[in-house]
Amino acid sequence: MASARTTPLHSLLVFIYRDIYTCFLKELRRHRQPIDCSKIARVAGITVDIIIYLEVWILFKSKVLDEVKRIYSQGGNIIKHLREIEQSQHNSTESILISYDFQAGSYVKAYKKNSKIYHRMIDQFVAELKALGGFRSIMEAGIGEGTTFRYIIHNLSTTISHANCYGFDISWSRLKVAKDFLQANSIVGQHLFVAELSSIPLKDNSIDIVYTSHSIEPNGGKERPILEELYRVTKNYLVLFEPDYELADDAGKKRMEEHGYVKDLAGVAKSLGYNVIKHKLLGYSVNPLNPTSVIVINKQKSDISVSDDNPFRCPITKTDLINCGEIFFSPQAYLMYPVIQGLPCLLDSQAILGCRYDIHVLG
Ligand SMILES: C[S@@+](CC[C@H](N)C(=O)[O-])C[C@H]1O[C@@H](n2cnc3c(N)ncnc32)[C@H](O)[C@@H]1O
Repeated sequence: MASARTTPLHSLLVFIYRDIYTCFLKELRRHRQPIDCSKIARVAGITVDIIIYLEVWILFKSKVLDEVKRIYSQGGNIIKHLREIEQSQHNSTESILISYDFQAGSYVKAYKKNSKIYHRMIDQFVAELKALGGFRSIMEAGIGEGTTFRYIIHNLSTTISHANCYGFDISWSRLKVAKDFLQANSIVGQHLFVAELSSIPLKDNSIDIVYTSHSIEPNGGKERPILEELYRVTKNYLVLFEPDYELADDAGKKRMEEHGYVKDLAGVAKSLGYNVIKHKLLGYSVNPLNPTSVIVINKQKSDISVSDDNPFRCPITKTDLINCGEIFFSPQAYLMYPVIQGLPCLLDSQAILGCRYDIHVLG
């Protein structure tokens, strides 16, 4: 699958579809009625049927977001609502994004209210990470609002420089909360970026330790591609602090099924041939219905190739991604990724074709 997406044609398709989407949104805002898109359809070489489908889809989506807003304001469960619309037992990536983005700010609020219960839980994470010995770089995949990351980095501060700490999340809004929260707690200089767990914009073996804290959790059904991607980026250890369906009691299992949570991460890792050196339930979990286990995977030395100093790569073409300040740029693929409020947005869907960027800006 990865190689099929690395062609220039794919980059072009990303560009064309983004354009059509933007055009629809503009037209919808202007007329609030069906659009004649036959010209765009001809240019893009797609049928009008698809266009009409897209039009209905966008109208439907804006309705969905209105409803999500209403549910959130009443304290309801957004992700459950979206799963019901999609009539699926699993959460789609888009539902996860919408659901978490709407909740931005809620984790820092809860953390500030009762930091002790979170510290009790994260102390266990710190002990597991420290037991792995010395390392130069670390990343939290699915960092949320940075509450777990802050406490871990604070406790590892004597052994690791902030410049070698990384964190990403699919939700820009949560990442912005994380950035402000970390800054207020004197954790600065780390690399935060928007990205997706199964398409991480980093090179192979680029980070010594990659860990997750309940971020794979809502991605039930995608255990395998997510583990493969995390393992690819890891250089030494992949450490998962995730809910454990297999070790939960019946009430916990029922809740996890209702939420579309992941299952059997240790089993999937073993089936992929990974070296699982630890798998156990932690002694304390903030929510007993969502018990956390630790899974430590040691990357086989034979899998490791040398990577250079710049860990970033284009999530679409897998070519080098250069930090140009206002954007991250892939010179080989001519793709630009925006940086908003200091946060690089490195999702596939956020790419913009910019053939002239290197000529006009880089010189
Ligand atoms: C339960 S929160 C945990 C946040 C953080 N790790 C912590 O310990 O506080 C799950 C986080 O994972 C992120 N997430 C879930 N699925 C993701 C995906 N497929 N790609 C990137 N981030 C994801 C969500 O946006 C959310 O911020």
